[in-house]
Amino acid sequence: MRAAFLRALGGPEQIEVGDLPVPRPRAGEVLLAVRASSLDPVDALVRSGAFPTGTPFPFVLGRDAVGTVIDAGTGAEDLLGRRMATSSLGHDGRQGAWASAAVVPRERLYPVPEEVEDAVLAAALHPASTAHLALHRHGRLVAGETVLVVGGAGNVGGALVAEAARCGARVVATARRRDAERVRALGAPGTAGTETGTRRDDGAGTVTTVDHTDTDAADQLRELLGGRADIVVDTSGRLDPELVADLMAVRGRIVVIAAPPSPPRIPLARLYTRDVSLHGFVISRATVEELADAARGTMRLLQETPWRPRITRTVGLGAARSLHEALDAHAVDGRVVVLPT
Ligand SMILES: NC(=O)c1ccc[n+]([C@@H]2O[C@H](COP(=O)([O-])OP(=O)(O)OC[C@H]3O[C@@H](n4cnc5c(N)ncnc54)[C@H](OP(=O)(O)O)[C@@H]3O)[C@@H](O)[C@H]2O)c1
Repeated sequence: MRAAFLRALGGPEQIEVGDLPVPRPRAGEVLLAVRASSLDPVDALVRSGAFPTGTPFPFVLGRDAVGTVIDAGTGAEDLLGRRMATSSLGHDGRQGAWASAAVVPRERLYPVPEEVEDAVLAAALHPASTAHLALHRHGRLVAGETVLVVGGAGNVGGALVAEAARCGARVVATARRRDAERVRALGAPGTAGTETGTRRDDGAGTVTTVDHTDTDAADQLRELLGGRADIVVDTSGRLDPELVADLMAVRGRIVVIAAPPSPPRIPLARLYTRDVSLHGFVISRATVEELADAARGTMRLLQETPWRPRITRTVGLGAARSLHEALDAHAVDGRVVVLPT
């Protein structure tokens, strides 16, 4: 099969594209004929070794895949012929998705709604799963709460905005003026919203934006949110911790998914005295159950909200090395779909 793979960790120059033997699924596993995969920021950390994880060589890159089950080990035969998706290949000892075929344990395979295209789902899984885990597993979102999303126009940010609004949160998001309308359109005012069935406040499901490039952006955020943010997710990792402390409600949750290059000073005294908690996570450590829950959340997001991943490029495996060069240069805009051609 054709694949993009490594024989050693390192820079993008370590990536080879060529033929590898087709793997055989063992008991409880399937062989997925990959129809679409994607490029995730974490791929660079796995390739370089910055995120230490099992990478048996030759190691196929890529995390997310949508495809058709073409072979099955004992106990997975019922899945033969089905169109399914996965979001956790290419780390922790599992081979990746940037290949024409990939072995997937059945507990990491998810049913796919018929109406959602392969490319859309492949591009959606990583950011939407991250958003789901941030808001629900780590943020413990309740309808009627107020959520600040920093980077609302980004990949994870857009999914956070749409999911929080869908669940009946009042959302404030940072986004440049050029992106503001698109981000506000992710709101869900007046919808029934929530699975939790709790009280809905005025403003539930609405999205307000603040342009983070405005010189008075911090003051705008203080005015909108001062002391009232129940959940803050900063996808840029750049929000001033002192400002975050100004915004947090008592018992608020700060969910950390990204960090600035140099360690920030966290005003712990101002946080603990308001019962504010800090929850960091990386999706690479999510359990099988959490990932399955997040995949269901992704399908719901695609079916029930206007959010779609912003696909900016669709490329074949031959582009693998240049994609990783772009990742290393922080020059990837939007979502890139990778086809096994
Ligand atoms: N922990 C995890 O499991 C996990 C999973 C997935 C992703 N991540 C991380 O999450 C981060 C976001 O990923 P992504 O794919 O969503 O990236 P992205 O699409 O580039 O989004 C980042 C957003 O941050 C905004 N931004 C940049 N600087 C800002 C600032 N100073 N103030 C406010 N907003 C600012 C950008 O807006 P402008 O460009 O308009 O300024 C952009 O909308 C990355 O660091 C990624 O590695 C973590």
